[in-house]
Amino acid sequence: PHVVIIAGGSSHEREVSQRSGRRIADALRHTGAHVETIDVETGMLEHLRDSKPDLVWPTLHGVMGEDGTIADLLNLLRLPYIGSKPRSAALSWNKSLAKNAVEAAGVAVLPDVVLPKSSFRELGATAILGALTSAMPLPLSVKPVMAGSSQGFTLVTSDLELTPAMVTCFGYGEAALIEPAVSGTEISVGVLDLGDGPATLPAVEIEAVGGSYDYDARYTAGASRFHIPARVSRETLSTVALAALAAFRALDLRHIARIDFIVDTDGRAWFLEADTAPGMTETSILPRAILQNSEPASSPTQVLAPVYRQ
Ligand code: DAL
Repeated sequence: PHVVIIAGGSSHEREVSQRSGRRIADALRHTGAHVETIDVETGMLEHLRDSKPDLVWPTLHGVMGEDGTIADLLNLLRLPYIGSKPRSAALSWNKSLAKNAVEAAGVAVLPDVVLPKSSFRELGATAILGALTSAMPLPLSVKPVMAGSSQGFTLVTSDLELTPAMVTCFGYGEAALIEPAVSGTEISVGVLDLGDGPATLPAVEIEAVGGSYDYDARYTAGASRFHIPARVSRETLSTVALAALAAFRALDLRHIARIDFIVDTDGRAWFLEADTAPGMTETSILPRAILQNSEPASSPTQVLAPVYRQ
């Protein structure tokens, strides 16, 4: 089969996308597929239209890709592709809307405040921050409503950190999602739907060696440790698996996704977000979950065979 991988793109996660794309391309070549990797650039549309690949695998993270844009384009071109349909991708990309949809399916989500950049500018930092801190005690998590790979994220532990956190956040997106910062265990659950209904992969616990699972911790070998399955009770493992399936269904996702949770010190699991183009780099979570191996995967074929089989 002729498979086209679309990697790169124009988002802040361009480099991550290139790394995911390279890994997927390697894996698919091992299966004997004729693999071509292209970027989002002039001529891409014509190329896809004229070459009529058997399958397109967009590994674009972030805006103009993971947000549903690329799925819309592939639908227009009538090309089969891996990943969620446009509306589902767009819904998941917006963490606030995704939380609403997943909460309606009975999954616990943290309270939040969404603050657009324009309000921050108009009302001023002092008024907003005063209202905010009386509604939500510190520590807070501040992140863009729409972004990935922890870009624009700050853990705010004092009043003084709030304004710089907002400024950082607005460097990556037009609105901030502010939530109580919960200390506990970060857990990701991969979900694959290979045509016979969604199934969960083992829950992966992330232990950031430096304390925070930030951009560097995500993409630097050895900067994070992983525990598969996560070191939580059987009951919690079952709760997050069921919650991941509920989220996958509530967002009407397709083929592959990673659902992230934080499990607090009382053992309560909170849905954080659903990633419809999960990172597939050497340091990413989902390939480890497929291999059930907390070390970086050695064989790209092993990593992707289950996904590609669909
Ligand atoms: N958004 C990146 C790629 C991830 O969370 O895996």
